[in-house]
Amino acid sequence: MNQLPDPIRPVRSFLFVPADSERKMAKGADSAADALILDLEDSVAASRTQIARGMALDYLRSRPDRSRQQLWVRINPLETESALQDLVTAQGAPDGIVLPKVRGAADVVRLSHYLEAIEVRDGIAKGSIRIMPVATETPQALFTLGSYEGCSSRLAALTWGAEDIAAALGASTNRAQDGEYDTIYQLACSLCLAGAHAAGVQPIDTIWADFKDDPGLRRDAQRARRRGFTGKIAIHPGQVDTINAAFTPSDEELAHARRVVEIFESNPGLGTVGLDGKMLDMPHLKQAQRLLALAQRFAGSTAEGGSDRS
Ligand code: COA
Ligand code: MG
Repeated sequence: MNQLPDPIRPVRSFLFVPADSERKMAKGADSAADALILDLEDSVAASRTQIARGMALDYLRSRPDRSRQQLWVRINPLETESALQDLVTAQGAPDGIVLPKVRGAADVVRLSHYLEAIEVRDGIAKGSIRIMPVATETPQALFTLGSYEGCSSRLAALTWGAEDIAAALGASTNRAQDGEYDTIYQLACSLCLAGAHAAGVQPIDTIWADFKDDPGLRRDAQRARRRGFTGKIAIHPGQVDTINAAFTPSDEELAHARRVVEIFESNPGLGTVGLDGKMLDMPHLKQAQRLLALAQRFAGSTAEGGSDRS
């Protein structure tokens, strides 16, 4: 069974918050999002970036207790000078950095070195600032999604996006005529999912932009979960509850998983058994064990709390 990264707590919902908005950062704290992403990239006008860096750092310092909600920062792409300036926020000991427009694992390794220098200099626990690349935003990245395994112990998750890659490919839209993502963006989604599982980290699904369309979001989040994603990104606080619900295993699912595990435990010599008229074999057992392990981690994330980084 693939292991989710330890010791980071799993995240069902990441909520994007523009870091130049005091009001939205305050609202983010009130939301049930498992993590906020204080954004210094696409949602902040270039003229406001410097102000946003200071606001994000102040905000991180004002919330040292991350037991209920993790605080991440999205910096600018590594090849811009802005990226290094954005890392001033690492002094506030964010739980992680979201790295956009990566080309592959080498970018994660490079950011990891920067973070190590900052952690040592500022007395922040070494290795504690994790990394989630947005792993499908450049053409190069699409060819490297299988390369993240073991690149850095900071790697906590992979996520994907279909907007920047469409621009990079010269596409006028990322949608096919039926309104679904065109094939290359579906491929990007699938490669992100497989790449994350190959690396043993959390696969996090992309945004649902139409924040007033709750039924659409629910369908999209449930589909992502069925595919094997373990969380999703929100852009509006109104999306968080729907996402949390979609990625929390239900009581029925857990009860079924326990029955599957029990039936194999009570028949140790058998590779395949019948339950409720259906054949079960090893993949079903693994699926059930994975679900129970995930549920335990989610339960632990609220019960035992996280580290106080003050
Ligand atoms: N985080 C925290 N609070 C948010 C929020 C967010 N992402 N989005 C909206 N809110 C707050 C608003 O400030 C507003 O609160 P207020 O009435 O106290 O001022 C309330 O929620 C309702 O907002 P609403 O009027 O429905 O939305 P809006 O038109 O103000 O904002 C967006 C719409 C899309 C601009 C906004 O949701 C947003 O900034 N999202 C994040 C964008 C982002 O980070 N993009 C980068 C990644 S793709
Ligand atoms: Mg973008």
